Amino acid sequence: SHCYEVNEDILLRPLTMKDAQQSYDVVCKNRSHLKPSLPWVEHVNCLEDEVKWLKSSMQDIQNGTSLQMGIFETKTSKLIGMCGFVNISDRNGWIGYWLGSDFTGKGLMTQCCRKVMEIGFQKLKLKKLIIHAKPENRKSQAVAERLGFVCNGELQNVLYFGVESEMMVYECT
Ligand SMILES: CC(C)(COP(=O)(O)OP(=O)(O)OC[C@H]1O[C@@H](n2cnc3c(N)ncnc32)[C@H](O)[C@@H]1OP(=O)(O)O)[C@@H](O)C(=O)NCCC(=O)NCCS
Repeated sequence: SHCYEVNEDILLRPLTMKDAQQSYDVVCKNRSHLKPSLPWVEHVNCLEDEVKWLKSSMQDIQNGTSLQMGIFETKTSKLIGMCGFVNISDRNGWIGYWLGSDFTGKGLMTQCCRKVMEIGFQKLKLKKLIIHAKPENRKSQAVAERLGFVCNGELQNVLYFGVESEMMVYECT
């Protein structure tokens, strides 16, 4: 499958079954960091849960309905986070992302998202890219703003993995 160089140290590529254990371990290590913004974390409680998610994610990539990718340290093949399209439909692409807490504060996600934007507009020919962020998730909003996304309002009562929340809607066309 495809592999995209982000800088000399990190790359993006879709996960394969071989990444299941490593990706499960990163989620476990970062549970409290991810839980406030990513309610799916509570549904990943054993390796089998991760494998199930991985299978459906790989299927979605085949179908062209999402493109979630691992962020890997090129030298070590260590997984440090995820970034990509959590949903693709009607030539809109919804971008989602997270980083292991050891890797935040270095500008890495902004760089990864720039690559994802390029993939979205140039390769997938999407017309609009969208980022949803909770009003309290300032770090995620800051990523969207650095990328030049504009906040076009808020959605109320967005249901995501059984959790309802407000979402600020950032868009880039
Ligand atoms: C959202 C998330 C990925 C943001 O991570 P991040 O490290 O703040 O984002 P970036 O990688 O773009 O780095 C920006 C930070 O690095 C700093 N930085 C250092 N060098 C930089 C550079 N060359 N370029 C840009 N920023 C740089 C910035 O000042 C900023 O730090 P600050 O917030 O303390 O000012 C992270 O907080 C996370 O994983 N959160 C949990 C999951 C989540 O909320 N996902 C999004 C759901 S909508």
